[in-house]
Amino acid sequence: MTENLIKSADRVKDHGEVFTPKKIVDLMLKLPEIDAKVKDLTATFLEPSAGEGAFLTELLLRKMQVALQQSSTASEYGINCLIALSTLYGIELLEDNVEALVMNMNDTFRDEYREKIKSSFQTTPDMKILKSAKVVIRANMAQGDALKRITSEGDPIIFSEWKPTGKKDYVQRTEYTFDAIVEDTEPTGNVHGASKQLDLFALDDNEDKQIQYLPCKWQNIYQERTN
Ligand SMILES: C[S@@+](CC[C@H](N)C(=O)[O-])C[C@H]1O[C@@H](n2cnc3c(N)ncnc32)[C@H](O)[C@@H]1O
Repeated sequence: MTENLIKSADRVKDHGEVFTPKKIVDLMLKLPEIDAKVKDLTATFLEPSAGEGAFLTELLLRKMQVALQQSSTASEYGINCLIALSTLYGIELLEDNVEALVMNMNDTFRDEYREKIKSSFQTTPDMKILKSAKVVIRANMAQGDALKRITSEGDPIIFSEWKPTGKKDYVQRTEYTFDAIVEDTEPTGNVHGASKQLDLFALDDNEDKQIQYLPCKWQNIYQERTN
């Protein structure tokens, strides 16, 4: 995380970019309403002006502590960490901040998971968990304008929902536009980018094909398997 609270006077003027010091983040996350949500592994958070992740990285650490308390084996801990991570969403306008945000979330997840896997379960990290965490972070941290709900290319901001299927340790990933989430309407019905890929091959019978993610085990999210 950037040590300084501001990067430049112009960025403060143009984008209101002032980062929150850790002391203030800690005070805010201690508020009883927020603390109760942190302790609920499946409660979701959205930071619509995420910066470099002052709030989201701290939320992740706290939720991973809850994941640890609720796990009795290393594999349960890995899955609970992914569940915790999947509940955290961010939007940030500036590309350099988004890059730092993604990196800070990845580093926080990897360091905390590695440390606890060793100290609490005396084993080594499962690389599938770490690879899947990267995919979740990429999907949940969006570059764009949270007010207009679009990316810098003018496309809709898209988020993934990660929902347990009912089958033990299985998750269903479904994509929604941010617009649909705010307006409480339908999912996109397709995997982001899939129709563009199909267009490249211009197969007539692909025109109406809906591409969706297949349900999978949490630790296999990294495979991003579709139908
Ligand atoms: C006051 S800073 C706070 C950053 C972070 N939440 C923190 O506490 O450190 C506001 C952030 O919002 C971003 N921002 C400004 N307008 C935005 C918009 N319309 N959509 C998304 N992000 C925006 C800025 O680039 C900046 O990083």
